[in-house]
Amino acid sequence: MPESAADAWIGGVWDKVVLKMPYCVKKARELDVIPYTAKDGGWINPHGPVWWTNGFWPALMRLMEIGTGGAQYAREAERADEAMARILDRFEELHHDLGFQFKISSGVSYALTKNPVSLHNTLLAANLLAGRFNPNGFVRAWNGDRAGWSIIDTMMNLPLLYWASRETGDPRFRLMAQRHADHTIKHFIRPDASSHHIVIFDPETDEVLDTPRGQGYAPGSSWTRGQAWALYGFALSYLWTGKAGYLDTARRCADRFIERITPDWIPNIDFEQPQEPYAKDNCAGAIAACGLLELAGLVPERADEYRSAALNMIKAMADHCADWSMDEPGILKLCTGSYEDRSSWHIKMVYGDYFFVEALLKLKGSSANLWLI
Ligand code: GLY
Repeated sequence: MPESAADAWIGGVWDKVVLKMPYCVKKARELDVIPYTAKDGGWINPHGPVWWTNGFWPALMRLMEIGTGGAQYAREAERADEAMARILDRFEELHHDLGFQFKISSGVSYALTKNPVSLHNTLLAANLLAGRFNPNGFVRAWNGDRAGWSIIDTMMNLPLLYWASRETGDPRFRLMAQRHADHTIKHFIRPDASSHHIVIFDPETDEVLDTPRGQGYAPGSSWTRGQAWALYGFALSYLWTGKAGYLDTARRCADRFIERITPDWIPNIDFEQPQEPYAKDNCAGAIAACGLLELAGLVPERADEYRSAALNMIKAMADHCADWSMDEPGILKLCTGSYEDRSSWHIKMVYGDYFFVEALLKLKGSSANLWLI
C-alpha cells in the first residue's frame, strides 16, 4: 500500500476504535467488571480479580486517554486500578504475570498522574515479582510445586523490574531481569530462533528437566504467541538496557515470525500445527505487530520490512476479524487461549484489543509506550 493510502487507512480504523470504545467502557461500568472477553452482548470475566489479563483493561484505557485526551478513559483506568490494588494482598494467587497486571496499569497511572498510591502499588508488585527470582537466573512461573518452571511469557513481565530500578535507583531489580533474559536466551531460544513455551529446571542445580507443550500444539512445537512474547519482550529488554544481545535475539525471533506466518497474515495458534482444523490467534499477531513496530525504529535497514509486516497483520485484523458493531463490546475476534482448550479458541480477549490499539497508535506515529514509561 502506498504510504499516503496506508496513513488514510490507519486513520479510518482509528476513527472506528474511537467510535466503539465509549460503548465498551459503558458496558464495563454497567456490569462492574474488568473485562476479559465478550459474551451475549456484555463483558465477562469468569476468572475474577487476580486473573493475569486484568491490567490490560486499565492499560487500554490509558492508551485511549493518550490517543484522544478523553477524561472518561482516565476515570475508567482509575476504577480498574482500585480493584486491582485489592489483589496485592492475595499473595498466594499472584505469580509471574505481576508485570502484565501492574506495570501497564498502576505503573502507567503513576507516570501520568504522580499519584503516590500508584507508585506504592507498583513497587509492591515489583518486589513480589523480584521475590520469585531463583538465583540460578530465572523468575519462576506459577506457584505450588512448580519451583523450577520458567516460561517465555515472563520476558514481557521484566519491564516491571527495569521500571523498579529506575524509580528506586536500586539496580537489583534490573540485574534480576537481565539474568532472567540471559537465561532465557540460553535455554528457550532454539537454534532456528523458535522458542519453547515452558522449560522446567531443577530449582537447585538448574539442570533442564523437561520442555513440555504448554499452550502450543505439541512438545517441541512453536507456540505463536510465545514467539510474539519473545520478539517483543527482548525488544523491550534492549530498550531498557541497551544490551545488543537482546536486540539481536528480538530480531531473530521477529524474522522467524515473519518467515513462518501464514499468507493471510492471521497467525495460527502454533507454527507447527496441522492445516486442519482452522485454528488462529490474533493476539499473537497484535503482540508481534507492536514488537515489530519497535524494531522498525531500532533497525533502520529493516524498518520498511518490519513496518510492512506489522501493517499487514493489523490490516488483516481490522478488515477481516474486527467487530465494529454496537451489539457487543470488544473489537478483535479470533483470539485464542491455548491449542489444547477448544473452549478458548476464537474469542475476543481484552489483551487482543490492548495490543491492537497499541499497534494502531504506533502506526499513527505516537511514541507512547506503556512498557517503558
Ligand atoms: N501469559 C499467558 C498467555 O500468553 O496466555
